[in-house]
Amino acid sequence: MTTIVSGADSQTLAAALARELDVSLATAEYNRFPDGELLAAAPDFDDDRAIVVASTVSSDAHIELLQLQDAVREAGADEVVTVLPYMGYGRQDKAFEAGHPISARAVARAISTGADRVLTVTPHEEAVCEFFEPTATAIDAAGRLAEPLPDDLEDPVFLSPDAGAIELAETVRDAYGDGETDYFEKKRHSGTDVEITPSDVDVAGRDVVVADDIIATGSTMSESVSVLQDRGVGRVFLTCVHPLLADNAVTKLSRAGVEAIYGTDTIERPMSDVSVAPSLAEHL
Ligand code: R5P
Repeated sequence: MTTIVSGADSQTLAAALARELDVSLATAEYNRFPDGELLAAAPDFDDDRAIVVASTVSSDAHIELLQLQDAVREAGADEVVTVLPYMGYGRQDKAFEAGHPISARAVARAISTGADRVLTVTPHEEAVCEFFEPTATAIDAAGRLAEPLPDDLEDPVFLSPDAGAIELAETVRDAYGDGETDYFEKKRHSGTDVEITPSDVDVAGRDVVVADDIIATGSTMSESVSVLQDRGVGRVFLTCVHPLLADNAVTKLSRAGVEAIYGTDTIERPMSDVSVAPSLAEHL
């Protein structure tokens, strides 16, 4: 039998997955010692197969995941499957400067030590799956991003803010069933300073859905929206798999005049309208 154990930041998705798979959900406890150290535990876990669901949205979430993997093994699990709905540090997948770490590899190695199998949702680059041992399974949730879009989009364009996300935009368009696709070019100057060079796609009076894997600071999206508005766009909808929405991203995007922001429950935010639970369940 299987029991699901959730990290503190993935409780809604873990519950949805338990319903989807019709398996039980263990109680998990998340405590902190006076010196700041964490203690995540699954006191009533008693099964031979565990699915630990934890988005590593912070360094604490990483530690918590390692502790839960260890706790269920200690409690007798023969198989520990780890579901990383959002893989933190996944974007640092190369040593970009001399002396820098490949952080994605470092965290993947640590997580692999406690897992027989790892699944992750739409990693920034699929190659990060190879940092896990055995190689992690990447689940593509992009097709689900069409679900909350209004069905009256006016002559829609599905746009990615950079060439790397064009396939994602195409997947959303295919799932929506109608519309053109295009992409902008992006140059990143710093964590929050990005420069968007538009394509010559005609967006005047048309509804545009800008699709990306992650919205982090919102800089990529807000620059894209500003370029679209200069060209007389109709409504602008933003969609992403991982709504990280760090710092003041929501305010920044609201001020940019977007109609709506949609994301999935890989990261639990008020705009996590789409659940990836059915996509994960197909692989569990
Ligand atoms: C990077 O290439 C990703 O696909 C996203 O475009 C990026 O993470 C978004 O970051 P931000 O919201 O901080 O601009």
